[in-house]
Formats: sequence, C-alpha cells, structure tokens
Amino acid sequence: MTRGQFITFEGTEGVGKSTQIARAAAALQARGVSVLVTREPGGTPMAEAIRALLLEPRDEPVHELTELLLMFAARAQHLHTRILPALDAGQWVLCDRFTDATFAYQGGGRGVSRERIAVLEQLVQDDVRPDQVFLLDAPVETGMARARSRGALDRFEQEAVTFFQRVRECYRVRAALQPDRYQLIDAARPLEQVAADIRRHLHAMLDRR
Ligand code: TMP
Repeated sequence: MTRGQFITFEGTEGVGKSTQIARAAAALQARGVSVLVTREPGGTPMAEAIRALLLEPRDEPVHELTELLLMFAARAQHLHTRILPALDAGQWVLCDRFTDATFAYQGGGRGVSRERIAVLEQLVQDDVRPDQVFLLDAPVETGMARARSRGALDRFEQEAVTFFQRVRECYRVRAALQPDRYQLIDAARPLEQVAADIRRHLHAMLDRR
C-alpha cells in the first residue's frame, strides 16, 4: 500500500480555507483518491474537546505556554490516532491547519521562540511533516471582516489586527524559506481562481506518483 500524502492548508482568519479544502477533496476524489478531511486543533473527540478549551473566550489570562502545550496535546492525539493511520492506509489527508499554525500564531503572534516550538514539534511528530502546505495568503483586514460576519468571535478572532499581521508575516517567511513544500496562494482572488490553482498543484502531485 502506497502511503498517502499529508497536505495542510494554512492562513489567517477568513481567507477561505474551508471552501478550498472542500474543493480540493472533491478534485482528488474525482481522480479516485481516498481522502480524509480533518482540522486542527481538533479532529478526534478528545482533540475537539481541547479545541473548545482553546477557543472559548475567557476572563482569566491564558499563558502562552498553556496555549502552546494544549495545541500540541491536541496534535499528539490527532496525529497518532487519526492522521498517521489514515496515511498508512493510503488515504490522502487534507488538514485545516497543522504545526505551521503553531509557529505562526504562538510564535509570530504570541512571541514564543521558534526553538521552543521546535522542541515540541520533534517530541510529538518525530520526523512527520506535511508533504505539501497550501498557504492561502490575503490581507488581514479582508479576512477579519469575513470572520466577523460569521458571528461571535472566538478567543483568537478577538485579537487585534497587528496580531494577525505578525501571524501572516511569519507564515510568509516560512513559505519563502521552503519553496518546495509550500505553495503560496493569493487568496484575495475569486474563489474559483484559487480553487483552480490548488487543483493544478494537486494534479501535479498525482502525476508525479
Ligand atoms: P480555525 O479558525 O482555522 O478553525 O482555527 C482555530 C484557531 O486556532 C485559529 O484562530 C488559529 C488557532 N491555532 C493556533 O493558534 N495554533 C495552532 O497550532 C492551530 C492549529 C490553530
């Protein structure tokens, strides 16, 4: 059994990740690929419970290390009980966010050092990294307006524009450093154009196998 591909979708709030993941899944399924669509934090009942803890707005200040450890606790459960078994069974896994989000949000956004995050990445993942990362990139203001129109804001969505600007910049730097693994996608364009771009990359991945 050929191992599946591990593909993640990243970006700041409101860039259209969910829509694009659904389109990408459909494009792969149309080519006969078995797909698992999942998300972080979350993806298993326990990891979804940790997600709820992380996203709920609260009066108590949340220490950045508490947030960081909860992200990796959820990830350990999700990776080892859901993602890796699916990849081993030959499924392609499309994951809405993964560790790049930790580097961008807890690193770029909250200011936790890259080295600290990398220690946990190694502990939880060993050498598992996404095969391909689609970074949906758009100006922060556009996405925040979209996120706000969806209703009550979660603990992250309540952050200031400057927080998301740091997150975006961190994502862009990571993408520039590893151009083979990252596709920087201009997500400010109409969604059909964005979907066509992603589909082209997925077809190229399939053709290479
Ligand atoms: P979502 O809105 O894309 O579902 O993601 C939930 C929030 O969690 C989003 O604001 C980004 C944040 N997040 C982190 O801060 N670190 C992480 O490692 C992950 C996976 C998500």
